[in-house]
Amino acid sequence: FDNGLGKTPPMGWNSWNHFQCSINEDLIKETADAMVSTGLADLGYEYINIDDSWGELNRDSQGNLVAKSSTFPSGMKALADYVHSKGLKLGIYSDAGNQTCSKTMPGSLGHEGKDAKTFASWGIDYLKYDNCENNNINPKERYPAMSEALLNSGRSIFFSLCEWGSEDPATWGKSVGNSWRTTGDIEDKWDSMISRADQNDKWASYAGPGGWNDPDMLEVGNGGMTTEEYRSHFSIWALAKAPLLIGCDIRALDNITKKLLSNFEVIAVNQGVQGKKVKSNDDLEVWAGPLSYNKLAVVLWNRSSSKATVTASWSDLGLKPGTSVDARDLWEHSTQSSVSGDISSELDSHACKMYVLSPN
Ligand code: DGJ
Repeated sequence: FDNGLGKTPPMGWNSWNHFQCSINEDLIKETADAMVSTGLADLGYEYINIDDSWGELNRDSQGNLVAKSSTFPSGMKALADYVHSKGLKLGIYSDAGNQTCSKTMPGSLGHEGKDAKTFASWGIDYLKYDNCENNNINPKERYPAMSEALLNSGRSIFFSLCEWGSEDPATWGKSVGNSWRTTGDIEDKWDSMISRADQNDKWASYAGPGGWNDPDMLEVGNGGMTTEEYRSHFSIWALAKAPLLIGCDIRALDNITKKLLSNFEVIAVNQGVQGKKVKSNDDLEVWAGPLSYNKLAVVLWNRSSSKATVTASWSDLGLKPGTSVDARDLWEHSTQSSVSGDISSELDSHACKMYVLSPN
């Protein structure tokens, strides 16, 4: 899908995980303001993505989708202008079916060309395309129709496939869109998060510039997990080259959440080749992946229910015996020099350590 976008995983915010259908134009504008004032925009978070429930129940008399007048009275063009004026991009949502999942607005099935032109005319930069009310037509037919429509719309629009991993989209998504969900919806809970991480992991080899595996949006900051669990969530999403789409209310960021989402060393790992699980031993896991200049990103992760030591040996990491590395701890922002043989750490339950290893 050669629209020139998604050279690195997309970064931004989406309304669904925190707000579900309770959205309006003030929320979107305030979120754009907060993206800039918190410094998140400077770190690369650029998309402000509106999810389900932004439109009227029915199309207008010409068959066009229309923004809901009670919640988006100024319309989407004005909202895009506002978001663009902040140096950010605006994303929108539709569905490859007759209605969206909330059933509050029409889907785009059979209207792909018209809707893609509408989105382009509004100045939309990103489309998330959901999978409800789909007449049991195979996604491999429904998604390419919108893909082609976007390419013919006259605007470069990032295309995010949201068919929940139902037809192994990693195997065909790259020619259709810029990212594809590999899982059902994430919930703000540890068990849900680790299962999304594992379901996504098996498709690692399919991700790369232009097309990314998507284990669903971030729950960091929504309150259902501990700080260490959110640190693990963010570390593994970064390592897996997942879209980093913030799902909390960034107008009211607490300091801990802001620090988690703002770790530029972890964000830097996110922006190349998907890392994956390289060792799992009774819930003590090592995830790793290559970076440029022969560096390696490594996460030591204690998924067990008690404190434990997690170790990555050089053979787990594919390093030659005797290799000496400098180990940068991306959460402590400190470097241990000349480490060789293995790297290990005693970790609280559900906690992780994330390193970049630079061979000397
Ligand atoms: C299902 C998707 O997977 C979610 O991310 C969200 O977009 C909802 N639908 C909206 O109804």
